[in-house]
Amino acid sequence: MEYKDEELGEIEVLGDRYLLQNRIGSGGMATIYRAQDLQMDRAVAVKVLREIYNTNPKFVRRFQVEAKAASALQHPNIVQVYDYGQSDGNYYIVMELVDGTDLRRYLSSRGVLDVDRAIIIAHDVALGLGAAHRRSIVHRDVKPQNVLIGKDGSIKLTDFGIASMYKDLNADRLTTTGMTLGTVQYFAPEQAQGEIVSPAADVYALGIVMYEMLTDHTPFNGNSPVVVAMQHIQDQPNPPGQFNPSIPAALEEIILRCLEKVPDMRFPDGSQLARSLEMLGDAEMGETVSMTPEHTSIPTTSTRIPSRQSKSMTFILLATLLVLLVFSFSVYLAVQLSFIHVPFFSGGGAMTSSTDRLIEVPDLHTMSWLNAVATSEKEGFRLVLVSGQAKGVVVDQNPKAHDKATRGSTIDVKMEILAPHPPLHSS
Ligand SMILES: Nc1ncnc2c1ncn2[C@@H]1O[C@H](COP(=O)(O)OP(=O)(O)OP(=O)(O)O)[C@@H](O)[C@H]1O
Ligand SMILES: [Mg+2]
Repeated sequence: MEYKDEELGEIEVLGDRYLLQNRIGSGGMATIYRAQDLQMDRAVAVKVLREIYNTNPKFVRRFQVEAKAASALQHPNIVQVYDYGQSDGNYYIVMELVDGTDLRRYLSSRGVLDVDRAIIIAHDVALGLGAAHRRSIVHRDVKPQNVLIGKDGSIKLTDFGIASMYKDLNADRLTTTGMTLGTVQYFAPEQAQGEIVSPAADVYALGIVMYEMLTDHTPFNGNSPVVVAMQHIQDQPNPPGQFNPSIPAALEEIILRCLEKVPDMRFPDGSQLARSLEMLGDAEMGETVSMTPEHTSIPTTSTRIPSRQSKSMTFILLATLLVLLVFSFSVYLAVQLSFIHVPFFSGGGAMTSSTDRLIEVPDLHTMSWLNAVATSEKEGFRLVLVSGQAKGVVVDQNPKAHDKATRGSTIDVKMEILAPHPPLHSS
């Protein structure tokens, strides 16, 4: 059905239900519209396959695979797919509308991100990937355009455009289907070679995204897709710390592990990467970051950032020596990055016992889990999630903000997903 509208010109209702309102973006194979779901009376995003593809069975199939795979996924860090179908020859997917921007535009306007912010974004994307990986779904197109940043601070991965049931693909050896439609800068070496891909390919792509968030460029930037693909396969990335000295050694280690050429050398899936990002503070100073119930349910035994074979051993030895030799500098750096709290550095200079002093409880309201963990650790407390979900924001805490409590004691927090969150971007 078609209508005329003064501002929008010709507009359509897809499937007698979705009133297309305005275009909000376009990519290689589709256009995204803001639309009104007339049945549910809510705003949605509708991805409409380009007309030229409608007659191509290969592309239509890809579109349907995307819709089916994505609609099976429900996670706070994945854009929810509500519906999909075909109307007058137009194939479309109806999904959650994210009011905000995407990471590509966010990086264009901001340049290099703060370490904390980059970690929060990477951690959320890793959690979303982890949920897909647990269902044997590999995204295969992780890149900044597919990471949406809501004005409410939410981070959501979208466009499982070439996502496929990797078990099926491995069985059929059809892994090259649609490969050229991705962006080669984020392709894992095995993906660039058209080999079997596993969740580790998404880990690699997220490693490239992390690298880019912290250095303002991707590690491999040849002047043609073939050259870039060869770089992924053959070249070692320059350590990101060369371009941004504020990257902590442990974070650089995580990024380089994601970028290992051999999939088995990387974190095996998004959940393991997320966990390693959570353990950054632990890696810096041998402390433990409290785990949420959600995290403890992840079937993994890894609680430390794993080492990366001989290079990693050299790195660890070097890091240990450095810590011993320039201990004060390391501690200072960690304090500056808010990963740890060191009483004699931030408590006014005296070597005060860490347990016999009453200190002010920080205000954690509206903070994300990672922010709340970082803040409470910095202030000398440990965080415990007593109700709600770690993916929301803090809506209540005990003891209350500004009360006095013993250093080293716990703060119980209640979190809710729909609670307001400070915006991540200003535009
Ligand atoms: N659910 C959504 N809510 C709000 N904006 C969205 C949504 N999905 C996509 N967008 C916007 O539309 C843009 C285009 O998305 P689309 O998936 O069509 O292309 P792409 O990811 O840039 O490229 P490709 O086709 O290679 O995947 C995104 O970059 C994003 O800015
Ligand atoms: Mg996309």
